[in-house]
Amino acid sequence: MISQKVIDRINVQIEREMYSAFLYMTMSAEMSKQGYTGIAKWLMVQYHEEMFHAMKFYKYLIEQGAKPAVPAIKEAQVKSGIGIKELFTEVLKHEKTVTASIRELLELASAEKDYATENVVRWYIDEQVEEEKNAEEILQNIELLGENKQGLFMLNIELGKRELSVASNFVSFT
Ligand code: FEO
Repeated sequence: MISQKVIDRINVQIEREMYSAFLYMTMSAEMSKQGYTGIAKWLMVQYHEEMFHAMKFYKYLIEQGAKPAVPAIKEAQVKSGIGIKELFTEVLKHEKTVTASIRELLELASAEKDYATENVVRWYIDEQVEEEKNAEEILQNIELLGENKQGLFMLNIELGKRELSVASNFVSFT
């Protein structure tokens, strides 16, 4: 049986995943404004990934007979005119805070001997490895390219090829 403590903590995580989604949407809007349409698309795919992360927890609470809370999300701030190196540095920094938050949730589930929640949270542990790796690789590419405008143009095109890898059918989450 899932404890109220774990339910409350999963609700906090739902809020954090949704905040991540809106942060990436805000970043995407800024990149569109600057003409980096490929990077804007990459960030919008990330928006959907984050909403999927939130809804996966939502679905899990429903399955456990608990009621998910629908959170108010604080406004995400992205500096106007931010450079792409700074932007992806922010992405990586943010993902590291999400990783820490997921680890905290895993520790709670483990302390509560809640093995079902542990299993679900382990999926997010793997997902965070991927998320940090993606941001790190992009940052490395940006570092390598330096001021090479043609290279940055190509990187923008490359990132625009990203497709959604998670199931996006939220309708079944009832
Ligand atoms: Fe859902 Fe990017 O962490």
